[in-house]
Amino acid sequence: MKLRTTTTTLEKLKDDVIVVGAFEGQKKLSGAAAEIDRASSGLISSAKTDITGKLHQTCMLYASKGLAAKRVLVIGLGKEKDLTADRIRGIAAKAVSCACENGLATAALPLKLIPGKALESAQKATALCEGALLGLYTFKHYKTMPENGDNAVFKQITICTGRERSTAVAAAIKDAEALCAGVYLARDLVNHPGNAATPTYLADTARVMSKKYGLTCSIFDEKKMRRLGMDALLAVAQGSHEPARFIVIEHATPQTAKMAPVVLVGKAITFDSGGISIKPANNMEEMKTDMSGGAAVLGAMQVCAKLKLPLRVVGLIPAAENLPGGSALKPGDVITSMAGKTIEIITTDAEGRLILADALHYARRYKPQAVIDLATLTGACVIALGNDVSGVMGTSETLIERLRQAAEQTGEKVWPLPMYAEYDEQNKSTIADMKNVGGRAGGSITAGCFLKKFTEGMPWAHLDIAGTAWTQQPKPYAPKGATGVGVRLLVSLLRNWKRLKP
Ligand code: BES
Ligand code: MN
Ligand code: ZN
Repeated sequence: MKLRTTTTTLEKLKDDVIVVGAFEGQKKLSGAAAEIDRASSGLISSAKTDITGKLHQTCMLYASKGLAAKRVLVIGLGKEKDLTADRIRGIAAKAVSCACENGLATAALPLKLIPGKALESAQKATALCEGALLGLYTFKHYKTMPENGDNAVFKQITICTGRERSTAVAAAIKDAEALCAGVYLARDLVNHPGNAATPTYLADTARVMSKKYGLTCSIFDEKKMRRLGMDALLAVAQGSHEPARFIVIEHATPQTAKMAPVVLVGKAITFDSGGISIKPANNMEEMKTDMSGGAAVLGAMQVCAKLKLPLRVVGLIPAAENLPGGSALKPGDVITSMAGKTIEIITTDAEGRLILADALHYARRYKPQAVIDLATLTGACVIALGNDVSGVMGTSETLIERLRQAAEQTGEKVWPLPMYAEYDEQNKSTIADMKNVGGRAGGSITAGCFLKKFTEGMPWAHLDIAGTAWTQQPKPYAPKGATGVGVRLLVSLLRNWKRLKP
């Protein structure tokens, strides 16, 4: 799939389809729709009764005289007052999938398909490209035969802009491509099943990617982890034949190589059976997604490198498989984490916080400006916030506030959960420093409080993406399956990064 830009006037475009937009409740056509209507002596106004402008409504018209393109697709933009960048993403995705479903190969998306001045040209271009690319994502790796609805014939999207904005628009397109490639990487890693995307596979992916994009990468094997004292991570891995890996990946520019980094930590349980505290069989296959935090960190690191962000960013990914086995961790066991704190295991299904404990403690050696972890950590977060919003907690209000701003910009919504001291009571153990579950009440928060004990004064935020990493229903610009959540959120945060005030 190619993305390009042109300043050719709309009536001269030779694409299979030109996409134009109509707002709901507006009698007069505007923007690209008005232009095309004029050039085609009323092609769109003659179909006016079929066009409501309701969000995502599509109306395919066959172009005749006056236009070089074969078709015009009118897409509903919804009410003008409700237009946001996120809506534009969804509109672009819907338009290009409509072109795909019709077996077309090329589509032209004029910036003016979104009329009005509410957003700048570059913002419109970014949102259109992101939506189109993210909406076109498919995962066909394990299909041996082509199927109906495959968008294999679709080849090219052209963004049409005026001459005066064309440089800014071309830059916006390049940006969106880099960003979406990171989201694609994260989605692919999550969609791959547990027998393919093992800890070793994640490590190999990190290594290959680092070589390609100029990141530094080191992979710790179990021997190295043992030497470092990462016993909580090793405890989770000990029931599986798949060896654990700890991935360290770093981005910097020559100017930023010595600065204190921002550290990203991603939970990567490549399959979570629950271990000895085994999960019910229903939907257990979805637990291949339990490495979504790690996938998001890898995706974000790739984008940081491609965009050459003027920052130092370190990604830490503890990766293991959680299975029951002859040597598996058991309820009642007590383990010693790398930080030296002892943990009583109540359930082996609360494994995410164990591997994150060691990764968060490891982050300390970087004296980071900030630490952000992402994890499919608790079912309770899905109950509390549903499937469109991730939970956010932490020790730095500024960091949490910035994540909320990044969420506004990217549409990857987050909502804060409180971390009052009262919750800590629930994690107290009679025989060890803490236990690995604090009961059903406030389950996402007590998990967050557990993590907090290992952040030791670092400015830290935790994102619980259990509800948002995977979607059962297609979303406007995410098909069923892995969403790649976190990549765009992190990149947005890092692009606008300023040192946190102490
Ligand atoms: N990986 C799961 C959480 C999860 C649930 C992710 C649903 C995605 C969708 C995590 O390891 C887990 O099993 N958490 C337990 C914790 C409990 C035992 C305290 C849970 O949420 O049930
Ligand atoms: Mn679990
Ligand atoms: Zn898990």
